[in-house]
Amino acid sequence: MVSTPASLTDVEVSSSINLVGRAPSGPDGPRTVERVGEPGGSCTDMSRSDGAIIVEHLTKRFGDRVAFDDVSFDVGYGEVFGFLGPNGAGKTTMVRTLGTLIAPTSGAATVAGIELRPENGPAIRSRISIMPEFPGLYLRLTVAENLELFARLYRLSDPQYRIERVLRAVNLIDRTNDLCRSLSKGLRQRAALARALLSDPAVLFLDEPTSGLDPVATREVHELITALEDRGVTIFLTTHRLEEAERLCHRVAILSTTLRLVGRPLELRQQLLTRNLDVRTRTDLDDPGKMFGGLVDVEGWEQVLPGLYRLTVVDPDATAPVVARTLVGAGVDILSIAESRRSLEDVYLELIDEDVEVKRR
Ligand SMILES: Nc1ncnc2c1ncn2[C@@H]1O[C@H](COP(=O)(O)OP(=O)(O)OP(=O)(O)O)[C@@H](O)[C@H]1O
Ligand SMILES: [Mg+2]
Repeated sequence: MVSTPASLTDVEVSSSINLVGRAPSGPDGPRTVERVGEPGGSCTDMSRSDGAIIVEHLTKRFGDRVAFDDVSFDVGYGEVFGFLGPNGAGKTTMVRTLGTLIAPTSGAATVAGIELRPENGPAIRSRISIMPEFPGLYLRLTVAENLELFARLYRLSDPQYRIERVLRAVNLIDRTNDLCRSLSKGLRQRAALARALLSDPAVLFLDEPTSGLDPVATREVHELITALEDRGVTIFLTTHRLEEAERLCHRVAILSTTLRLVGRPLELRQQLLTRNLDVRTRTDLDDPGKMFGGLVDVEGWEQVLPGLYRLTVVDPDATAPVVARTLVGAGVDILSIAESRRSLEDVYLELIDEDVEVKRR
């Protein structure tokens, strides 16, 4: 676990953008994927004092509309935590709540080591930064003027030094005196990131930082995030791009008003994606319930197509030979038995699907 809150004061910013293609590495998170709401499923094994962000049963309602409901999770210092969910899942509302811009309806949270309470707002805001969904720059001002304005608003010491440093960090130094309206979408995003870095945040909230960017600009933002990670900044990243979360995040949470799942991307793959065996037979089985129901390792089964059965199993490697022996013993012609690998995307869609359907009705 990376144990100290981060500061950018010692960042060698000029070198920080040139890190390409490294695999996410980082703090030890929880060992298993947790389906939230399952028995024994607390979100992490960290104690309260360890978390850069600790969220406990947090709910936010706008009148009758529930933005998110009874959400609990922890983020460790130095962790890049992905917050995934479809449109309207409550991601931005969570960022705004933890960023002290709006108050939760119920529940508790700690942000950058400080309890989320109205009176602690200034203290929390002094340790965090938010890069919002939309850059929100003053387009008639230059990049430098924008940053100067915000440095003044934040009452930051040594603004010129900070501005130069953050512009180097995001590789925008050669556009310092350009009007923001003359910047492309990707460059505006970088300017917004520079603004978010001005105050040396220990915790950085990035709300869909690559939304609307082309692949090159997206990769640049990814490299910047990785460079910040290397410096120990805690990053809370909302996205609906699964591949982005997989590439950048130590752990991801999947939200769809309620929290569905928290875990490491690799563990999500290993533990959630390999629990099915697809069994193809030449003809339909006479009594598949009797055939599969009698096997202790088979937790469930369904017929997907004629002659194709999908079995839910704990251990596909151990169960496949048992299934084969049983079917052959019953005189069934087997065409294939294979582990069916659902993509992370399938799992994600499955987790959020019911809810999205309910909302659309
Ligand atoms: N100020 C507000 N007043 C009323 N309802 C709101 C307000 N802000 C958000 N909501 C509602 O809360 C829910 C969650 O919205 P939120 O913006 O947090 O979703 P999101 O996950 O960020 O979605 P997206 O991916 O589209 O950005 C939505 O139903 C939204 O309409
Ligand atoms: Mg949003």
